[in-house]
Amino acid sequence: MSAEQWAAVDDYLAQKLVDEDHALRTARESSSDTLYPGIDVTPTMGGFLALLVQITGAVRILEIGTLAGYSALWMARAAGPGARVITCELEERNADIAQENIDRAGLGEQIQILRGPAAETMQSLISQGAEPFDLIFIDADKKSNPDYLDAALQLSRPGSVLVIDNTVRGGAVIDASSHDPDIIGTRRLMDRIASDSRLTATALQTVGSKGWDGFTLLRRT
Ligand code: DHB
Ligand code: MG
Repeated sequence: MSAEQWAAVDDYLAQKLVDEDHALRTARESSSDTLYPGIDVTPTMGGFLALLVQITGAVRILEIGTLAGYSALWMARAAGPGARVITCELEERNADIAQENIDRAGLGEQIQILRGPAAETMQSLISQGAEPFDLIFIDADKKSNPDYLDAALQLSRPGSVLVIDNTVRGGAVIDASSHDPDIIGTRRLMDRIASDSRLTATALQTVGSKGWDGFTLLRRT
């Protein structure tokens, strides 16, 4: 199958199954104004995150990598008015765009953007003794994923669910000789997961409008 066919099927499935309203669509489209256009989650992935929130009953949600706020909107909507989404973003420009999208969606009470390097933000949440999160979505710089996992585990409890985006990278994850920091980070992430007996994990490959990638799903036992 070609990339065009993957994208066409993704579009078809999203149109049939994923209910994206004006605020969500505007947020997704505004990702082209961020510093990293085109790397937001797809509508089908947004729908997946929303279902995961509802299936797990998550009400305390942490996101690493806000971009335009599209995935945070999906998760906050799914979690309902009593829930809280804390989302970490390094880039001021992205955070400004996300804040506009959050305000437009009327989710300013539920979603809080914490600006700055996520590793530092997570450390300060740990030292403040933040309540554990029910669901943590990691979708930022891939080279830091081993560190994000370590910090996320300190911000979780038995039963917490973690989703880590982009762990296949067009198949490059199996390249043990790669010098790409993102691939090295992804492979270290896999090694950490494999060696942590607290974690039950799997990973699914995806094709669609963003090509060939995938995500890793974990539950802390
Ligand atoms: C990249 C980052 C993402 O979060 C994504 O979903 C796709 C690509 C990237 O940095 O290339
Ligand atoms: Mg991603």
